[in-house]
Amino acid sequence: MELIGDNDGIETWQEVNLLYNAALHQMETKMEILNEEFQHVHQYNPIEHIKARIKTPESIVKKLKRNGLDSTIENMVNHVNDIAGIRIICSFTSDIYRIAEMINHQQDIQVLKVKDYITYPKASGYKSYHMIVTVPVYLSDRKVDTKVEIQIRTVAMDFWASLEHKINYKFEGDVPTHISQELIDCAKMVSDLDDKMLQLNDEIMDLGRK
Ligand code: GTP
Ligand code: MG
Repeated sequence: MELIGDNDGIETWQEVNLLYNAALHQMETKMEILNEEFQHVHQYNPIEHIKARIKTPESIVKKLKRNGLDSTIENMVNHVNDIAGIRIICSFTSDIYRIAEMINHQQDIQVLKVKDYITYPKASGYKSYHMIVTVPVYLSDRKVDTKVEIQIRTVAMDFWASLEHKINYKFEGDVPTHISQELIDCAKMVSDLDDKMLQLNDEIMDLGRK
């Protein structure tokens, strides 16, 4: 695998930006194609919407500092896995695994790491399915397999995570205990809602088949 180890010719922030932007476009297109094909075959869209972002240079430097690393391009490329991030929002928990499976099957995608916070939620109540993958980016003279962080979650999980993120930001991580507890309670409600909606959807799909 040709990961961009050392610098692999990547010298400047502009080059990093170009590469990771290209990787993000690749992933977005791949996901759109999967969604359209799924619609064609199963008359159903597993993906509700997709959000993509490049981490700001400030955020990258902050993360490197937090990990005791110097702000070099080499460290960025080797140690920050979420410079390019894509969030795939779907309707049902079952869609999450369906999408992860489809990503796993793509030959040019290398899956480097998976964190299943759906099966094993964080103590905060956070649920989401995370993958660190590489996608090939073809430059004029070489191919660079570039890292992308993929987060897959339901609309309800995304709603919860956005609010929890906002609250954490507001209190700079020092969230009052009663609010953390309320968030854990909300996470349980979100989980129950996702289960109920999936169950209802399965029932309706079954009726449609009969
Ligand atoms: P970083 O948190 O990015 O340093 O990476 P990590 O190695 O801890 O990876 P992990 O997969 O746990 O988290 C990656 C990303 O998931 C984070 O940057 C957030 O975007 C999201 N995330 C993880 N945990 C939480 C959480 O408790 N709440 C919210 N809102 N988002 C979370
Ligand atoms: Mg992150």
